[in-house]
Amino acid sequence: MSGDASTVHTDGIPPDALSKVQEYLEPFHLSVEKLREVSARLRKDLVRGLGKHSHHKAPVKMLPTFVRATPDGTEKGDFLALDLGGTNFRVLHVRVVEEEQKVLKMDSQICAIPKEMMLGPGVQLFDHIAACLNDFLVSQNLKGQTLPLGFTFSFPCEQKEIDKSILIRWTKGFNCSGVEGEDVVKLLKEAIHRRGDYDIGSVAMVNDTVGTMMSCGYRDQSCEIGMIIGTGTNACYMEEIKNVRRVEGEDGRMCINTEWGGFGDDGCLKDIRTEFDVVVDETSINPGIHNFEKMISGMYLGEIVRLLLVRLTENKLLFEGRTSEALLTPDAFETKFMSEIEERDGGLENTQNILTELGLKWDSVDSRIVRLVCNAVSSRSARLCGAALATLANRIRVNRRLDHLKTTVGVDGTVYKKHPNFSEELRATVRLLAPDCDITFLVSEDGSGKGAAMVTAVAQMGQSKL
Ligand code: BGC
Repeated sequence: MSGDASTVHTDGIPPDALSKVQEYLEPFHLSVEKLREVSARLRKDLVRGLGKHSHHKAPVKMLPTFVRATPDGTEKGDFLALDLGGTNFRVLHVRVVEEEQKVLKMDSQICAIPKEMMLGPGVQLFDHIAACLNDFLVSQNLKGQTLPLGFTFSFPCEQKEIDKSILIRWTKGFNCSGVEGEDVVKLLKEAIHRRGDYDIGSVAMVNDTVGTMMSCGYRDQSCEIGMIIGTGTNACYMEEIKNVRRVEGEDGRMCINTEWGGFGDDGCLKDIRTEFDVVVDETSINPGIHNFEKMISGMYLGEIVRLLLVRLTENKLLFEGRTSEALLTPDAFETKFMSEIEERDGGLENTQNILTELGLKWDSVDSRIVRLVCNAVSSRSARLCGAALATLANRIRVNRRLDHLKTTVGVDGTVYKKHPNFSEELRATVRLLAPDCDITFLVSEDGSGKGAAMVTAVAQMGQSKL
């Protein structure tokens, strides 16, 4: 399947060196059969996560979002949106205009979150968020108004209602104390009340996957899946309520935040995890958590490549056996380098510049081997994501007893958007594993901002449309 890409990438590497390097890369090449197995395991885990009694032990959490309808194009109004989930925090003012079916971003502001704050007390983080929101309201002259607010909080939360959302655990680079097990809306409101100089209207909590699905849903009403492949990875989709055993009701659908990043946390992916995945997990701030995510998403891919490069160098297959200080520094090989290295035109030149930057002495074979390594790691990620997405599409098709499903997936995330062959490889895998599903991919434009407004709008207009 990725045959073409790999053959191109092996050009110019002497056969002897190539076969030795391939030995290290072999565990990253997953056959279609293996991917089918992975998909079958995920299929079972989706059911476990939805079940009333199996849920609490399920690694794939399948969280109800209380979003019961996708947009129908009649939504309108002014909203505030908060977006927390990556390295930055954003505040936005969004206007949804019904006549033009447009979601307009009126203005926005980015506040950096220092690394220490990502690991410090939760109160400090929420005070910082409340302060950034205040600055934004002042700058926009919005302070007297109490606009409804959509809060995109891109972590696994047990949602009790649209405005009650309990953090199950931090993921990615965050680990603030005193937040896990707490209601995030309450923490935000408390921080605002501590200041006492402004207030907010009703709050809707949104995962970024849901924001992505909803922002694409405004443009294409058959969008029923949202997927993120960025710093972290995850997907949501519209599930039949009768299958969501933890929520009352028999009719209609509800968007489920799968939290597929946790797939494998019960050890079910042991056969495909490599020794490098194990090191990435063990040296992370949350060992044992989000195994699938750690094989796929932007926060970890560069580090997997770095560990492979160190191993190949130690075994004299790269750089004449000489590493550099940078190569030996955790996280020094950034995931964005992989996109530059694997570029069709100019990729080799980019590789050489990056290797020089990392203080390595390379020759032309070295740079080709490095490109091959990046390709093995990014291909595996794309195929695993493809297998997971195919599982969701197949489930929707079977749920609806259709022979053929036509649906749209809203997608966001730097890995998907920036990597040169990622999306193509992902789609090829989905075609193989979900041959009866015809999927359109729609890249979301700011799902975390505009999508949050959309969820808030749908929630407000909500009941009449169900
Ligand atoms: C979080 C998800 C989020 C994903 C993408 C994961 O680490 O658990 O809630 O959707 O990252 O941002």
